[in-house]
Amino acid sequence: MTVEKKIFVKTYGCQMNVYDSERMVSAMKPSGYVETKSAEDADLILLNTCHIREKAAEKIYSELGRMKSLKANKPDLKIGVAGCVAQAEGKEIMVRQPAVDLVVGPQSYHRLPTMMKTVNKGKRALDTEFPEEDKFDHLPKDLTKRSSPTAFLTVQEGCDKFCAFCVVPYTRGVEVSRSPEKIIDEANSLVDRGVVEINLLGQNVNAYSQNGFGVKFNLSKLIWKLSEIDGLKRIRFTTSHPNDMTEDLIEAHGSCSKLMPYLHLPVQSGSDSILKKMNRKHTADDYRKIIEKFRKVRPDLLLSGDFIVGFPGETDKDFLETLQLVKDIKYGQSYSFKYSSRPGTPAANREEVCESLKKDRLAELQLLLSKQQMDIQKSMIGKEVKVLFEKPGRLNNQMGGKSEYLHAVHVIGSSLKKGDIKSVKIINTEANSLGGVLI
Ligand code: 5AD
Ligand code: SF4
Repeated sequence: MTVEKKIFVKTYGCQMNVYDSERMVSAMKPSGYVETKSAEDADLILLNTCHIREKAAEKIYSELGRMKSLKANKPDLKIGVAGCVAQAEGKEIMVRQPAVDLVVGPQSYHRLPTMMKTVNKGKRALDTEFPEEDKFDHLPKDLTKRSSPTAFLTVQEGCDKFCAFCVVPYTRGVEVSRSPEKIIDEANSLVDRGVVEINLLGQNVNAYSQNGFGVKFNLSKLIWKLSEIDGLKRIRFTTSHPNDMTEDLIEAHGSCSKLMPYLHLPVQSGSDSILKKMNRKHTADDYRKIIEKFRKVRPDLLLSGDFIVGFPGETDKDFLETLQLVKDIKYGQSYSFKYSSRPGTPAANREEVCESLKKDRLAELQLLLSKQQMDIQKSMIGKEVKVLFEKPGRLNNQMGGKSEYLHAVHVIGSSLKKGDIKSVKIINTEANSLGGVLI
C-alpha cells in the first residue's frame, strides 16, 4: 500500500502557471500525493515560478530561504523549483540554494514522478529540457470533481515574437498548439467535473493553429467547436497578440453567444518609435484599428491591456503618446509595469531610463488607468449583468462571482450556489468589485 504524502504548490506569475500547478498535482497523484494548502504540512513543496521581471525572480530565492528552515524540523521534506525561473536559472538555483532537491522546467513536469524517485534516493534532480514527447500526453487524467466552476485550459504554449524585453521565447520555447481533439476531450472532461466556464490559455493564444477533425483550426474555429459542448456556458481566452488577430476571431465576439465580451490585448506602448525598438512589429494605429473593429461587432466589450513604461530610449514624448493611446482606447482593466532588464533579451544591454523617471511615469499611467477602470465600473450601476457564482463572499449569505465582463460581483442570496448563472442588477461599486441584487 502506498503511504499518503502531501504536496504543496505555490504559484507565481501568469495563469499558465496556475494551470501547470494543477497539472503537477495531478501528475503526482498516482505516486500517492494529495494536495495540501499549507507548506508546513507538506512532504513535497514546489514553487512554480515566474521569470518575467527581476523582482519576480528574486522573490523565489527569498522564499526558498524560508522553505529551507522548514527542513530543519522535517528532514524528509523535499523542495522543488518549477516554471520559468527553473528553466532560465536551473543549475544556478542548485548552487545558490543547497536545500533545493529538484528543478523542473515548464515543458518537463510530466517527468516529476520519475524525478522524485531520484530525489527519494537522496540525489538531486534537474530537468530543463524541451523533450520530444508532449507533456500533455504523459499526464494522468484527473477525474476528481472540481472545486471551482471555472477552469483554465492551455491550448498553446511558447512565443516566436521575440519582443526585445521578453524572456518568454527563451523560457517557454517556440509556439506550439495542442491538437483540437485533445482540447475538446479535456474540455468535455472539465464540464463533466462541474466546470461551466473555460478560459483558453496561451502565451500567444490567438496564434493557435493546428489540424484536427480533418481540417485546420485557428482560435476562432476552436471556440466555435467548444461552444457545441452543451454544459459549457462561457468561453474566454488570454493572452492574445495584435499581430495574430484574425477577422473571424473579431467576428466571433459579435456572433458566438458563449464567447464573453472581454479582451486582454497587450499593447505595451503608444509610441511607434518605442514599439519599433521593442520589436513589436505593429504601430499604435494598427492597435487602434483592431480595437475599433472589435467595438463595431461588440460595443460593450471590456478591454484590458499590458503596458511597460521606461523601456530603454523612452522619451517624455513617447510616454505622452502612451497616455494618449490609453485615453483613446479606455481600458476597463490593466496591468502596467516598469521596464525590467532581463538577461539574454535583446534590450538587456541598452542604456536604461533612470529609475525615478520610470517610477513617476508608472504612477501617472496607473492613475489614469485606475480612473478609467473606476469610470467603467461606475457606468455599470443600474445595468443588468449575468453573474457566474464561484464562491461565498465575506458576508453572511453572500456569494461572489464574475460578470460577462469579468467584473467581480457580490450578491446576497441564500439560494445561490456555486456554478449558478443569474441575472443581477448592479447597485454599487467598490475599488475592485461591484455589488448587485438578484433580478
Ligand atoms: N519588464 C517589464 N514588464 C515586462 N513584461 C514582459 N517582460 C517585461 C519586462 N522585461 C510585461 C509585458 C507583458 C506582461 C506579461 O509582462 O507587459 O505583456
Ligand atoms: Fe512568468 Fe511569463 Fe513564464 Fe508566465 S510565461 S510564468 S508570466 S515568465
